[in-house]
Amino acid sequence: MPSTGFVHANQELVCDGVPLSEIADREGTPLYVYSASEIRSRFHAIDHAFGGYPHALHYALKANSTFAVAKLLRTLGSAADANSVWEIELARRAGFAVSDIVFTGVGKSSAELECAVPLGLKAINVESAGELARVEAIAERLGRPARVAVRVNPDIDARSHPHISTGLKINKFGVAVETARELFGSIRARPFLTLVAIHVHIGSQVTSLAPLRGAARFVAGLTEELQRNGLPLEYVDVGGGLGIPYDGSDIVSPGEYVSALVEEVRPTGLPIVCEPGRSIVGPAAVLVARVIDRKPRNALSEFVVIDAGMTELLRPALYNAFHRIEPLRSRPGAAREYEIVGPVCESSDVVGRDRTLPAVEVGDLVAIRDTGAYGSAMASNYNRRPLPPEVMVDAGHWRVIRRRQTLDDMLSLET
Ligand SMILES: Cc1ncc(COP(=O)(O)O)c(C=O)c1O
Repeated sequence: MPSTGFVHANQELVCDGVPLSEIADREGTPLYVYSASEIRSRFHAIDHAFGGYPHALHYALKANSTFAVAKLLRTLGSAADANSVWEIELARRAGFAVSDIVFTGVGKSSAELECAVPLGLKAINVESAGELARVEAIAERLGRPARVAVRVNPDIDARSHPHISTGLKINKFGVAVETARELFGSIRARPFLTLVAIHVHIGSQVTSLAPLRGAARFVAGLTEELQRNGLPLEYVDVGGGLGIPYDGSDIVSPGEYVSALVEEVRPTGLPIVCEPGRSIVGPAAVLVARVIDRKPRNALSEFVVIDAGMTELLRPALYNAFHRIEPLRSRPGAAREYEIVGPVCESSDVVGRDRTLPAVEVGDLVAIRDTGAYGSAMASNYNRRPLPPEVMVDAGHWRVIRRRQTLDDMLSLET
């Protein structure tokens, strides 16, 4: 039985029993490689932590909507959180029922709402009074009430990176609690709106329990308030946001997180809807790249130029995110100081700052770890670089789940 996930075996980095160098030699680099077993075990770790408490995991497709990844999660019993009508359509094609899809997002266009409202989704998570009115108008025209949840901004600091914190009043997300109370009051008299839940999401890569617990307490408290006022709801939507230990540090575990959610929401007597993305797919992929150049940087360190950069993995350039980087096969000898940079003509295209690594040579392969979430999903064609291929490894076998894009693919959209 091969070991699962990404492990070192025979001085090589191996994924679910397959040496990553074997895949890179066949498919070229840069290249995303996913571990199916890692996705399964991460989904189950959260799912099973609920024990018997009623819940639904709505995997947040924005983290990674590669079709095979979405389909795998569907087979595990996941529901979906979609952030655009295109994610909704992808989810449906991957086998998710409309009754298992929530539609979130701060800027749903009229065209998107026209598509989404007739579908009868589990909920449209509305983010403003205006959006609620737009949903209502479409529902009235259709003669069928729309199922909505209202996203409330709890003014809680997620203590994450400012660009991925969403739960403070200064952030663009959701409505303030006072506005929410007004909307809840008005919804009673609006026959084409069915309020099914209150929704919060305070941000992503949240590594401490207190803000996540605080958000759950907030939304459960508001739900109880509505229950006391005779407005029954169907579930409590606590959003996503559970972080992963990119640098190996000790952070809140899925078990601790779920226990806190259950403790906070239990008094409502309602099921929990949770929208995890990163915590399921983040550690389940590596981006494999090849060293294409080396040159002096300063007295202590060298630049190492690799063939993956901000076009394949935007996170380091976008928010200075840290990803472990390691050679697939370590060379003997002393470790060295490196600035690991991508090939894109932007100075921000630095994949790893001030890293100490075993010595690397031009032609060596490196793995950028924990790139399953917000990696391939945020890739771009800047510098006319093609989207990289993606491979899924499962039980010792691998297959290409997305081929490398070609220039012809790009130009097929252009005249
Ligand atoms: C509304 C909503 N739900 C869920 C998520 C998924 O978050 P994460 O990938 O951090 O679990 C996001 C992402 O920020 C989001 O905006």
